[in-house]
Amino acid sequence: MKIKNKKDSSFYINNPDNTFVDNTTTSILDKCDDTKAFHSSLPGYKPTPLVHLPNLSKKYNVGNIYIKDESFRFGLNAFKGLGASYAIYQILKKKSQIETFCTATDGNHGRAVAWSAKFFNKKAVVFVPKGTTNQRIKAIEKEGAIVEQVDGNYDKTCVYAKEVSEKNGWELVQDTAWENYEEIPAYIMGGYLTLFQEMEDSLHLIPNPKIDLVFLQAGVGSFAGTGIRYYLERYGINRPKIIIVEPTEADAILASFKKGKITTSLGNSKTIMAGLNCGTPSLGAWDLLKNGSDVSIKIDDKYSREAIRELYFSNGSDAKIISGESGASGLAGFVAIMTEQECKPIKEELNINETTNILFISTEGATDIDMFNRIISEE
Ligand SMILES: Cc1ncc(COP(=O)(O)O)c(C=O)c1O
Repeated sequence: MKIKNKKDSSFYINNPDNTFVDNTTTSILDKCDDTKAFHSSLPGYKPTPLVHLPNLSKKYNVGNIYIKDESFRFGLNAFKGLGASYAIYQILKKKSQIETFCTATDGNHGRAVAWSAKFFNKKAVVFVPKGTTNQRIKAIEKEGAIVEQVDGNYDKTCVYAKEVSEKNGWELVQDTAWENYEEIPAYIMGGYLTLFQEMEDSLHLIPNPKIDLVFLQAGVGSFAGTGIRYYLERYGINRPKIIIVEPTEADAILASFKKGKITTSLGNSKTIMAGLNCGTPSLGAWDLLKNGSDVSIKIDDKYSREAIRELYFSNGSDAKIISGESGASGLAGFVAIMTEQECKPIKEELNINETTNILFISTEGATDIDMFNRIISEE
């Protein structure tokens, strides 16, 4: 049954054609066949844990639930180090003279750029939007970067970082692409491939994956775009179904699906999911999202809070997982689908039942510990 999408609905059911568009991003991603080898050569590299949560799956009456815990990534508490390190490595292969790397960030990517620049004995300047918490700023500074707050949202901070970089001869390492700025974001996406490749001995088997659904949270969509590229290339139309999750007030991808082209969210950018608080999809991710994902959904902050508590106060013998506001948002999207009456068509479209196996990626740990403590103490 084909569901008719409504203009004001909190989700969009896509009808992807499962093809790749020939563009700068896909052609660079084709060349990123050394990412896992590169990351393996970095100090502290270890595949992050993949945790099975049998009691959580019983609670929701589904097959198996797995969650990959990126809080263990390089001691950075988030997956972002994979992208920044690989992109800087690629840039320095061509331009070894670069002294300073610059970026705009809601937190995790900036910390990752600072850490990677330090590893290569380079400097980093990081711009953060208004409202970035002190905790997140301190975490970036701890990696040796200069951090400056911009009076504007994430999109405005990106423009500012670009202008200042051009003026000062710094190299911009941005995790979102726009016209004439596609190569570096594509290498960042290439870096994220390692995360998916790490599951090739467990869930990502050949010829068929051991999972039916993968929830990918999105800010600009680079992370989700990499996941889609990975699954589509490995499994073709036998890939698991992919659900994109965003905050209600930063629904750039959902808004773009509804318009049929890249557009900016009309949301007010007020969300606790800082890593997902982006206004416009990445040019490098959009074709992948459009052609290789099945559902796009926006969720209220309350579901993120609920998912954080669900993972922290684990069910029975399930392992306890410490997940941040953006980290837990994939599970939050699932909880919304399973509880909101409005989401019933999604459940049907995805055929969620007692045999469905699901993968979530906790993309960060408690990156703002004060916020995390508040959330777990408010039952
Ligand atoms: C913890 C976390 N999860 C997910 C994302 C989303 O990644 P993207 O902006 O590539 O969609 C981010 C981005 O900063 C993040 O920090």
